[in-house]
Amino acid sequence: MLRPMRETEEVGTAAPVAVNGDVVDVTDAPEVAVPDVAVTDRAVELAATDVTGVPETGVTDVTAVAETAVTDVTSVAETAVSDVTGAAEAAVTDVAGVTATDVTVADDAIERPWWRDAVVYQVYIRSFADANGDGIGDISGVRARLPYLAALGVDALWFNPWYPSPLADAGYDISDYRSIDPAFGTIWEAEQLIAEARTLGIRTIVDIVPNHVSIEHPWFQEALASPPGSPARERFWLRPGTGTAGELPPNGWQSIFGGQAWTRVADGEWYLHLFAPEQPDLNWEDPEVWAEHEDILRFWFERGVAGVRIDSAALLVKDPGLPEEVPNPGPGEHPFTDRDELHYIYRRWRTIADSYDEPRLLVGEVWLPDAERFARYLRPDELHTAFNFDFLACPWEPGPMLASIKSALAAHAPVDAPATWVLSNHDVTRPVTRYGRVDTRFAFEAKREGTPTDLVRGARRARAAALLAMALPGSMYIYQGDELGLPEAENIPTDRRQDPMWRRSGGVDPGRDGCRVPIPWSGAKPPYGFSPNDEAPLWLDQPDDWAPLSVEAQTDDPASMLSLYRTGLRIRRDAPWGVDSELRWLDYGDDVIAFARGERFICIVNFGPQPIELPVEADVLVGSAELVGNVVPQDTSVWLIQTLDRASFDPESIRT
Ligand code: NOJ
Ligand code: CA
Repeated sequence: MLRPMRETEEVGTAAPVAVNGDVVDVTDAPEVAVPDVAVTDRAVELAATDVTGVPETGVTDVTAVAETAVTDVTSVAETAVSDVTGAAEAAVTDVAGVTATDVTVADDAIERPWWRDAVVYQVYIRSFADANGDGIGDISGVRARLPYLAALGVDALWFNPWYPSPLADAGYDISDYRSIDPAFGTIWEAEQLIAEARTLGIRTIVDIVPNHVSIEHPWFQEALASPPGSPARERFWLRPGTGTAGELPPNGWQSIFGGQAWTRVADGEWYLHLFAPEQPDLNWEDPEVWAEHEDILRFWFERGVAGVRIDSAALLVKDPGLPEEVPNPGPGEHPFTDRDELHYIYRRWRTIADSYDEPRLLVGEVWLPDAERFARYLRPDELHTAFNFDFLACPWEPGPMLASIKSALAAHAPVDAPATWVLSNHDVTRPVTRYGRVDTRFAFEAKREGTPTDLVRGARRARAAALLAMALPGSMYIYQGDELGLPEAENIPTDRRQDPMWRRSGGVDPGRDGCRVPIPWSGAKPPYGFSPNDEAPLWLDQPDDWAPLSVEAQTDDPASMLSLYRTGLRIRRDAPWGVDSELRWLDYGDDVIAFARGERFICIVNFGPQPIELPVEADVLVGSAELVGNVVPQDTSVWLIQTLDRASFDPESIRT
């Protein structure tokens, strides 16, 4: 029998811990043949035959925006070609405050694994672009908009779940992991999309949800139809209740969405769901659960995806004794979060990911306050990267922001993993809104609708934050619509709200619908080009004041958020800091975060009211706001490139 992970136990620093807390179940784990030869990369094959596919798929919506995007693709492609030769030139031209400057990238840039400094764009497909006019975003819509994404300058797309789902949690309740929800398209279309994106230099990452399935998943249906104690029930946490007649749940665990984490089935047993009742948790004590998910990984890897984003990655393993939660548990002692046994699973997955010609990427959704425990998931034989939620949740204040950045860099260094810089996602308040409030941090428990918000100030800060995130070493995630500066949509009518967080909190928590609204592409009124059918109601209504935020409205405006993202990403792609450049902090006082990277690059972020004078011997590459005079005003980031002879450059010396 296979003993999963045993062969890699000595790698990393954690003390080995047996699966199940005991060696017995480890030896019972599934025997799964990991391919030891490279699997054919279907994306590459498809790409070779279908280079013209993208323009042809632009189904209905041929607008000025699309034309612009196509033009942009040409220049992106040119940039990509020069990147391959290893001597990309910094494109610094057309945005206010930008000065033309040459930047050379060393040849070894192309040797770096792509994911170490990738810009990953998160596609919430339901809200990205609707091609068939039913008001729901779909794969055809994404294919038609690939030129937009290429022009934006992203390296990869991460798709939120696109599998068949009854949508109790926006697709995070999956009923079939190897198929595409008909609302989005077909598996064939997904393969085409993966291949077409790759021809534009864009990789694809899919979302894998191993903690739970949908109540409509065949396994759960089988469990319900099977008697207590049967193997079909072993795949879940189905247990007798407590109380005199089993009328109380097995323990007092609470759902992350609110309410108790147990629901009773017809024969009296209870099942565990850390999220909604429609999302029964899988039992990772069961070898079949291991085998199934390893097979799902291979299924998508063999369709050409470059990697997977692992949902709720720190929650899969539960203490089988189901003990109550205690305050301040020790490391690895929480009954269902960050248990040491998880690392066996991810080491196993890494072996599978590494078995492909181009090793596949594992990205973890790991919400943990302890940076050291977080970094354990990123040891060389586990996940490649994980979302940096500390940075995402950080208030727009220089002290906490600097501390968060330093802590992330320090935690990642010992495991040689790149940090990720994430400003938002489909679960949290849009930065433009969050940064426009008195309390600028993000916390689920503090989220309330009707909080006074200064959107102008929020947008200014979101621009500064975007340039900061782009300048930091590591990879970066952009949630769709942030590049347009979309605010959180509030005041969604109650009968239109979808998110279980809103329902299960009794309406106290406004839920996550406000950051999931379909994005505006063009035109003066909803659906703003999102759908070719102006009459079809969208799955979630758009606000009626989003015309100025559309792609069309922003494309040719050099002062727009979209132009800032395009410019910032273009310069970032040319790596004005060089390769593996060390970051050095510069001291401009307590209200400023400033650092130098490489020999010539400097980023200055001014949070405070006191304007900061620009160094005299450096040119501005890009600023997040217009620079009047020779100063960096409040809530503004600037990127600079020093103009002195390289050899004599000392970033500390350029202070004016
Ligand atoms: C994290 C996902 O990002 C979120 O949207 C989802 O509700 C939970 N995991 C449960 O799958
Ligand atoms: Ca559609």
